[in-house]
Amino acid sequence: MTEPLNELDCLPADFLWGVATASYQIEGAVAEDGRSPSIWDTFSHTPGMVHRGDTGDVACDHYHRWREDIGIMERLGVDAYRFSVAWPRVVPGVDGKVNDAGLDFYDRLTDGLLAAGITPFPTLYHWDLPQVLQDRGGWPERETAERFAAYAGTVAERLGDRIQNWCTLNEPLCSSWIGHLEGRMAPGLTDITAAVRASYHLHLGHGLAVQAIRAAVPDAQVGIVNNLSPCEPASDSPEDHAAAVRADGHNNRWWLDPIHGRGYPQDMLDLYGVDLPEKPGDLATIATPLDWLGVNYYFRTVVADDPIGPLPNTRQVDPAGARHTGMDWEVHPNGLETLLMRLTEEYGVQRIFVTENGSAYPDVVRADGTVDDPERTRFLEEHLAACARALRKGAPLAGYFAWSLLDNFEWAYGYEKRFGLVHVDYETLRRTIKGSGHRYADLIQAHRARARRAA
Ligand code: FCB
Repeated sequence: MTEPLNELDCLPADFLWGVATASYQIEGAVAEDGRSPSIWDTFSHTPGMVHRGDTGDVACDHYHRWREDIGIMERLGVDAYRFSVAWPRVVPGVDGKVNDAGLDFYDRLTDGLLAAGITPFPTLYHWDLPQVLQDRGGWPERETAERFAAYAGTVAERLGDRIQNWCTLNEPLCSSWIGHLEGRMAPGLTDITAAVRASYHLHLGHGLAVQAIRAAVPDAQVGIVNNLSPCEPASDSPEDHAAAVRADGHNNRWWLDPIHGRGYPQDMLDLYGVDLPEKPGDLATIATPLDWLGVNYYFRTVVADDPIGPLPNTRQVDPAGARHTGMDWEVHPNGLETLLMRLTEEYGVQRIFVTENGSAYPDVVRADGTVDDPERTRFLEEHLAACARALRKGAPLAGYFAWSLLDNFEWAYGYEKRFGLVHVDYETLRRTIKGSGHRYADLIQAHRARARRAA
């Protein structure tokens, strides 16, 4: 066992240690057992959209190698696995018919996880909308929200006898702002009206899905996952302060306020200038109380005013002396502590999971077959220490999921960026636990040993 991380002494005995992945990023098998194409199949096969033309056609071939991957999770010693269910496997067509062969995969996976003593944490939407629904207008249309809830209820009915923890959406910010406004992700639109409407229907779909899941699984614990980022002004000028308020509205408040019953922030509605496609009762549905909130944290946002810059009229500034990951994202562990405290104090959240946190670095497999990744290990330790500080200050943090179990298809970056605790050789699909994975396993064991001694 390597050095313990004493800061973690305060973690409660039942702190949940997990790893996370997402369907399109790892599964491959895009045309098997009745799966229909998703918007990410379309996007990745469109020339110029993804680095080097990479696609998720094979990815990590997890669809066939899931047993091996559960074995790796057992070696890491994790308590929980956050994965996502591919909607186009379960309801592939416009007719809304359920494809049992697609559901069977998640059934097998669930049983395999439970047999290994690992708690399944499915996410129902991690960006792979069935293309047939995009063809009918996608998230900018209300119908997509209603169909999402029906699909969510179907999955919950099938797996709810074994799964208690459910997550509706992953990062609706990315689906809306990056997918419909910036065009860097599927479906690749650059239209603020489509983006605002998409965000609204994602929220509505989330609220309806919470209700559908609870109807199917009365003891379900349901949450949503948002990627959040503390926003700071680049200077003391009033203009930069105002820019930071706008960035906060765009990145955080737009996603937190409606689900907490505060409606959509008026300053952002004014800035976007788009009418919400609101019907009576929607805001209450969107604010259906949750059992937990998931936070994905990667970096903070430092901004300067930029009146002619893209919405929210800000320009991102790289703070002096910043360290960066291979994504060029700033390494800023304090930002995670700040976020957890804000959710606790300002939004009164009662139960939080860090549902993703991790870093990409250009790893190499050494001649002896090992992968040494000291920077990722340090990133992991520093962010866990930030979690511990927030816990000590009273944040109701119940667990941490490392992104990611495996190197995988990193969206528009293709296979270029590696986030895994486990290296994947894309030629042979061989998996190798990296140094950071071994360190994570050690920290989990040390925590368990401490909890046993204290009991
Ligand atoms: C998050 C996504 C996840 C992964 C990480 C690096 O925004 O939820 O799928 O790509 O970033």
